[in-house]
Parts: sequence; structure tokens; C-alpha cells
Amino acid sequence: MINVCFVCLGNICRSPMAELIFKDMTEKRGLALSFNVSSRATSSYEVGNPIYAPAKRTLEEHNIKGGHRSCQLTKSDVINNDYILVMDSGNLMDVLRLTGGEYGDKIFKLCSFTDNPRDVADPWYTRDFEKAFNDIYDGCNCFLEYLLKEKKEAFDYDKRH
Ligand code: 4NP
Repeated sequence: MINVCFVCLGNICRSPMAELIFKDMTEKRGLALSFNVSSRATSSYEVGNPIYAPAKRTLEEHNIKGGHRSCQLTKSDVINNDYILVMDSGNLMDVLRLTGGEYGDKIFKLCSFTDNPRDVADPWYTRDFEKAFNDIYDGCNCFLEYLLKEKKEAFDYDKRH
């Protein structure tokens, strides 16, 4: 089992999109049972709120369903996950501030797994939800490919048990 937590500022746009995209991707590839996938906010701004309507609409346009309510990241979440995948440099600084600089070896920007490392721009400000979707999809896909190569034994083990 690999525990993955996606993180952004508000947990109503990018990180819940990433959570639902990655869940869909692992389900379609028969790998869902190997993962525990969640998402969190670095801020308390939107705690308890559902996925922002334009983000949800964009997911639905790509046939990805599901809901989520914003929840703030804690240090325990960082300790209890194998990968903390943030969307941008601001998120990375905020998570490291939360952990006092610890656990840096499991905190990555999602798109650092792609051939074109970059931040996922916040659609809350850019209003470009389709671009956010495409960047997140690319990041999730490349992250999964990375795991399938690097953690091959773990997936083979999960298949047998
Ligand atoms: P997210 O977008 O970090 O992708 O969920 C945001 C949502 C809400 C706010 C900021 C960013 N806000 O300031 O409320």
C-alpha cells in the first residue's frame, strides 16, 4: 500500500482534482487497491467546503466523478503518508514550515515527475481550469509511471496477496 496525499492552498481546486484524477487513473489500471489517496489544504481558508464548482465541472467534462470537502494538512498527515505531492513552490514552503523542515524527502511538486517540471498555476486566480486539469493529469500520469518503475516489487506483491 502506498499512501499519497495531494496538497494545495485551499483544497477546493487543484488538490481535490489531483485526488480524483489519480484515483480514476489507478482504478482504470487495476491498481486502486495498492493506494490510499487523499488531499489536503495548507490553509484553513476553505475548511469544510466542497470542490469549487468550476473545478468540479472541469472534472465532469473529463468523466471524472467524486466529491471532497476541504481539510487542512497536519504534521501527522505528513508523517502518515509516503508521498506529499504539492502543486507549487508556495505550497512546498508552507508544508516545510509545518514540519519544521523535516520529511523533505517525501515532499515533491507534482509536476517534478514530468519531463517539464513546473508549478500547477492556481486556477482560483488564473481561472484556467482546463490548463490546471491538463497539468495535474500530466503530473499524476508521470508520477504513476515513476512508481511502477521504482516500486515494481511492491505492486507485484500486492497482486499476489
Ligand atoms: P486551490 O485554489 O489551492 O487550488 O484549492 C484556491 C482556492 C481558494 C483560495 C485560494 C486558492 N482562497 O484563497 O480561498
